[in-house]
Amino acid sequence: MPWRSTAEHYGNVAMFFHWLIAALIVVNICLGLYFADLPKSDPYLYYLAQIHKSIGLTVLVLSLLRVLWRLVNPVPPLPADMPSALKFLARVTQFLLYVLIVIIPLSGWLMVSASRHPVPTPYFFLFDWPNLPKVADHELLVDTHAFLAWSAIVLVPLHVAGALYHRYWRRDQVLAQMLPWG
Ligand code: HEM
Repeated sequence: MPWRSTAEHYGNVAMFFHWLIAALIVVNICLGLYFADLPKSDPYLYYLAQIHKSIGLTVLVLSLLRVLWRLVNPVPPLPADMPSALKFLARVTQFLLYVLIVIIPLSGWLMVSASRHPVPTPYFFLFDWPNLPKVADHELLVDTHAFLAWSAIVLVPLHVAGALYHRYWRRDQVLAQMLPWG
């Protein structure tokens, strides 16, 4: 499979970004939902929060690179005979997911940076990730981060349902274009 995407198939780099970011987001949604409800006294809370933040910041970097890569590579088109309403839904979902993979981690980073008692973010316990300037109230950013994460919890299954619709209902090449063996 070539590194760059073509009009027929996504390339290795686009597939690497897609599947790695997808996996990290699923892991981080589960981690976020789990640790956000733990009591402050839980001995694992600190470690789970640091892993969640480190994974999220990795997603932010990967997502920015992914958007750049997307801008300089062709995108395989959807099948010409697909109903235009479904094409529109697919494109809107994909666009929103691109936005979410950047602004969910960004909102998390802004949130921890705005905390009244800022805890350093030791990136995978290797070095301290810097904080951003405070742009809004911490509580507002907590709500924003949760709202954006919940938007992904709704949109990701919709996106997966779309991929399965192509594979098993229409039996076209859309899912195969994003699979290394497709
Ligand atoms: C892939 C990116 C990310 C995803 C999918 C994600 C998802 C989530 C989810 C689902 C929650 C639970 C929300 C709720 O209470 O309903 C959460 C909470 C949290 N996230 Fe993230 N997050 C991401 C990135 C980040 C980043 C980059 C940071 C900070 C650098 C961060 C810091 C936090 C913190 C501190 C909480 C707990 C908030 C609280 O309830 O006090 N997250 N996240």
